[in-house]
Amino acid sequence: MKAQAVNFFDAHPGTADLRREVIDGLSEHPRAIPAKFFYDERGSALFDRICELPEYYQTRTEMKILQRALPELVDLIGDECLLIELGSGASKKVRLLLEQLRPSGYVGVDISKEFLLASTETLARDYPWLEVHAACVDFSSGLEIPHCDPSAHKVAFFPGSSIGNFDPADAIHLMADVGRLVGPGGHLLIGVDLKKPVGVLNAAYNDAAGVTAAFNRNLLHRIRDELDADIDPAAFDHYAFYNPDEGRIEMHLVSRIEQDVHVAGRSFGFAPGEGIHTENSYKYTVEEFAELAGEAGFRQQAVWRDDNDLFSVQLLQFGDAAVVP
Ligand code: AVJ
Repeated sequence: MKAQAVNFFDAHPGTADLRREVIDGLSEHPRAIPAKFFYDERGSALFDRICELPEYYQTRTEMKILQRALPELVDLIGDECLLIELGSGASKKVRLLLEQLRPSGYVGVDISKEFLLASTETLARDYPWLEVHAACVDFSSGLEIPHCDPSAHKVAFFPGSSIGNFDPADAIHLMADVGRLVGPGGHLLIGVDLKKPVGVLNAAYNDAAGVTAAFNRNLLHRIRDELDADIDPAAFDHYAFYNPDEGRIEMHLVSRIEQDVHVAGRSFGFAPGEGIHTENSYKYTVEEFAELAGEAGFRQQAVWRDDNDLFSVQLLQFGDAAVVP
């Protein structure tokens, strides 16, 4: 059978965005580069490997929670919704939802063009009854998504605790954008990683096989290859730890030596031990997240967790459906 065409919308950040944000990030002190730049094709493939690691409990735990929650979820959401997946990968989770929820439409939204196209084309082929759209956007800077039927019951799906990458203020901002997108009565189904013993957290971001280290260093590979920089990824160490005051895992790339790095005609000096902050991954209690969601106009309608309280899947509803005529 011929694959159904995927409607494609492209606002993919190009090399110019990478160059500007890398130069800005290396010019600041402390130095920081946004985590969204991890996900080129190689980075997305490395992330898929992280999800399979024994230390990385998140992906499999979320899948198990979703499986258990499905009957209740279908009851709460109903059929004929428009499912909008934020950060669509080649995820098994969304297939589970599609099969049980039977939405009338699906919109995949992702920053990684190659992955988005591949995954939406596969979905369109596997689910011929489903209308499939793809929107390549950086949703950390707004959610302008076309092909949205205004009358459809919209359900945004944001799995994998990707919300953890945003500072709390930015997370509120993003959820408020999602609220505008789904409208009053619309839903946000979100995976949220929970606070837990520090040893478990640190192990998840310092895996024995070194995949997370390779994922972190992939940022330097991108800078070297796409920005024509003379940066040597091997001259930086992967450094990840739980910061209890901020309630987050931090990832850094730390210079092993004294060195000058050249990017787009600029020179950046590193002392030994000087780092680049590459990612935050915030962890919440269920109550903390209720408060955050509340700030964005969402209320927790249902929360499901695993038996060990590692992870949560939360169904949030925007505004007050009752006041909408
Ligand atoms: C994609 C944000 C959920 O924070 O756990 C995995 C990314 N970084 N290992 C996370 C990640 C290092 C991941 N999220």
